[in-house]
Amino acid sequence: MLNFSFHNPTKIHFGEDQIHFVANEIPADAKVLVVYGGGSIKSNGVYEQVVNALTDHTWFEFSGIEPNPSYQTLMKAQELIQKNDIDYLLAVGGGSVVDGAKFIAAAALYEGDDPWDILAKQIPVKSALPIGAILTLPATGSESNGNSVVTRDGNKLPFSSSLVKPQFAILDPKVTLSLSDRQISNGVVDAFVHVMEQYLTYNVNGKVQDRFAEGLLQTLIEEGPKALNPDTKEHLDIRANIMWSATMALNGLIGAGVPQDWSTHMIGHELTGGFGIDHARTLSIILPAVMKVKRHEKHEKLVQFAERVWHLTDDNDEAKIDKAIALTEDFFTRMNVPTRLSDVDITEEKIDGIIEKLAQHGMVELGEHQDITLEVSREILTLAL
Ligand code: NZQ
Ligand code: ZN
Repeated sequence: MLNFSFHNPTKIHFGEDQIHFVANEIPADAKVLVVYGGGSIKSNGVYEQVVNALTDHTWFEFSGIEPNPSYQTLMKAQELIQKNDIDYLLAVGGGSVVDGAKFIAAAALYEGDDPWDILAKQIPVKSALPIGAILTLPATGSESNGNSVVTRDGNKLPFSSSLVKPQFAILDPKVTLSLSDRQISNGVVDAFVHVMEQYLTYNVNGKVQDRFAEGLLQTLIEEGPKALNPDTKEHLDIRANIMWSATMALNGLIGAGVPQDWSTHMIGHELTGGFGIDHARTLSIILPAVMKVKRHEKHEKLVQFAERVWHLTDDNDEAKIDKAIALTEDFFTRMNVPTRLSDVDITEEKIDGIIEKLAQHGMVELGEHQDITLEVSREILTLAL
């Protein structure tokens, strides 16, 4: 196992009707900015619960954070923050809203010229406003990690800082009942790929991390399709298991002490930035191709994945790997997400432009061995056609 330091400061309140906890978690004298997206929280009753919970607080609101939040939108919150001396952010929504709140929090106290440099130049965040989160879409793990992804003019870039980890997060599986099938699929697949990025690398004998990861993968494979099935989709225990899996997939626990890959995500970001493909759908297209192109380097973990997650024990190793990749693609198909670039109308002639963007964003040595060069990314994209 590799050396690691692990600290996850986010207090989780999990379960039905827990939104009232915000009243205790946010200091009574705070000036709160509630940030949210395009209005789903107004139609599913979450907004009303937030309003009730904040009765004794001074609060303001900022709405309109879009999926794949844009720098331009997020910067508009700065004026409200200055004008009203905001000192606490409450993010209410999915990963885009929570990520957006993180950028707003860091930008508010940024001392340089342009907060975009936090992403473009990876300038470390020195201070940020405190954040709490009410999660409405289980997917990203953003509610208890320090990551954020922001888009500016087609450039989708990540930053990470422990200073923007939410202080608390409220996870009520009931609020996920209003999600569309597309968002349920996206969430399950995103969480699945988060686990894979931290699991499917090389063996360092991280037994605890591996078995946690395998448990999360199996839970998502079991419960994901049930959340799309009309007979079972309203079952709260299914939603609860998906919600907790998604948080655990990217709260730092399974990634501590093990190598990590993240090439699927970095290549996927270019598909969202350039073509507007939903985040999870970029991952379901790229991951199978990464598994195929890197099957030699990932051999040992691919066999372990085949045996422990898919229970493939009869064949030789190469056949096990083939079947495990096919079963992963089949799982994505059952979750109604694409597995090829042609499924989203991206053709071969677009690959040059994607490679150019990867180069421009410094994504030239990806993967757990930093050996996914632009040439290897081209191979991955070509195989994904
Ligand atoms: O904007 P509203 O009206 O709220 O609607 C949203 C949005 O249209 C809707 N939605 C959310 N909760 C709902 C709901 N609709 C009905 N009922 C509910 N309960 O769903 C749509 C998508 O929301 P979004 O927040 O964009 O989805 P998701 O949670 O999948 O977040 C995706 C973003 O997170 C980033 C992605 O790149 C993308 O920008 N990621 C963040 C990560 C992190 N912070 O660690 C890691 C991930 O890999 C990912 O990159
Ligand atoms: Zn993701």
